Amino acid sequence: MNLLFQEGQIGDLKLKNRIVMPPMCMYKSDNSGELKTFHKGHYLSRAIGGVGFIIIEATAIEPRGRISANDLGLWNDSLIESHKILNEQMHSFGAKTAIQLAHAGRKCTVEDETPLAPSSIAFSENKPFKKPIAATLEDINEIKELFIKAALRAKSANYDAIELHGAHGYFLCEFLSPLSNHRNDIYGGSLENRCRLLLEIAKELKQKVDLPLIVRISADEWMSEGWNITDSIYLSKELEKIGVDSIHVSSGGNQEKPNKAIELKPMYQANFAKAIKKEVNIPVIAVGLITTAQECEKLLEELYCDFVAYGRELLRSPNFTFIAANEFSKKEFIDSSYQRAF
Ligand SMILES: Cc1cc2nc3c(=O)[nH]c(=O)nc-3n(C[C@H](O)[C@H](O)[C@H](O)COP(=O)(O)O)c2cc1C
Repeated sequence: MNLLFQEGQIGDLKLKNRIVMPPMCMYKSDNSGELKTFHKGHYLSRAIGGVGFIIIEATAIEPRGRISANDLGLWNDSLIESHKILNEQMHSFGAKTAIQLAHAGRKCTVEDETPLAPSSIAFSENKPFKKPIAATLEDINEIKELFIKAALRAKSANYDAIELHGAHGYFLCEFLSPLSNHRNDIYGGSLENRCRLLLEIAKELKQKVDLPLIVRISADEWMSEGWNITDSIYLSKELEKIGVDSIHVSSGGNQEKPNKAIELKPMYQANFAKAIKKEVNIPVIAVGLITTAQECEKLLEELYCDFVAYGRELLRSPNFTFIAANEFSKKEFIDSSYQRAF
């Protein structure tokens, strides 16, 4: 049975196969935050290559929310049009699309910006990281609004879905962890309080933007006293309750020096996806060192997840989907112009 080529669904969004291109920053823009020729070719070639669901890289909701000065941004309306054209092109090859909306929080390394974070705790004492300022309640409300505005722009640009970046130690993830969030207001302290901001933004996105919503989380921050899979299961269930359509399960990124051993082997994060999938009824995306079609089959068959994201594999092989189709003797899934290559 080839599950990889079975159609799937996230919310009401129908996907032609189970292959996802996860968000990957290409650092090819400039201070404008615009899509450049590189991005257009990069994403379009994965759509031509048969990827079912393409999630555009972390795109900042405000200039201070960039990781670097070369990140994409969606902080004003003039940035919408080129995304609209790119979407039209990706859609014409049968790919469905999302954009990952992000705020870098304390991991902003842009020269002229002061990072904003839940608490004034630096990610690292070393450059290029800086000591962030702790967000006031006013700042938090502004960030919420900026996420909504950016998502509405993404909707105008015809993205099929939104991915909220709640992983890898960026702003929303920093609120989740007791190690990066030392607040003593309603956004800090208990697990419930630390999850509040992400849940509030997700809820508003569902109400005001009305697109399928995926939330990417780091299931474990690889610290003995930090955010872990039990917390992630609680959060995932709460996200499901407010109507989030899918959880994208990554790990790490919030600590410069994790103190738990990370065994970097194939599919190393998939156990986290499986643990979450057991507890929710919405689709789960697994990611992390998954590089073969057989691994995808195993993960789908053994109910680790509903979709499989191939990151670096899709950087190496834009036509990975066709290679998988050939391996499974499913030539009908290879673009007709490329069939002679197999
Ligand atoms: C070049 C590069 C850029 C990345 N940028 C992002 C990003 O923008 N947002 C995000 O959530 N993860 C990002 N990641 C993490 C990937 O989405 C993915 O989770 C990670 O590479 C593990 O999957 P893989 O082993 O299939 O590559 C990036 C990874 C790479 C290699």
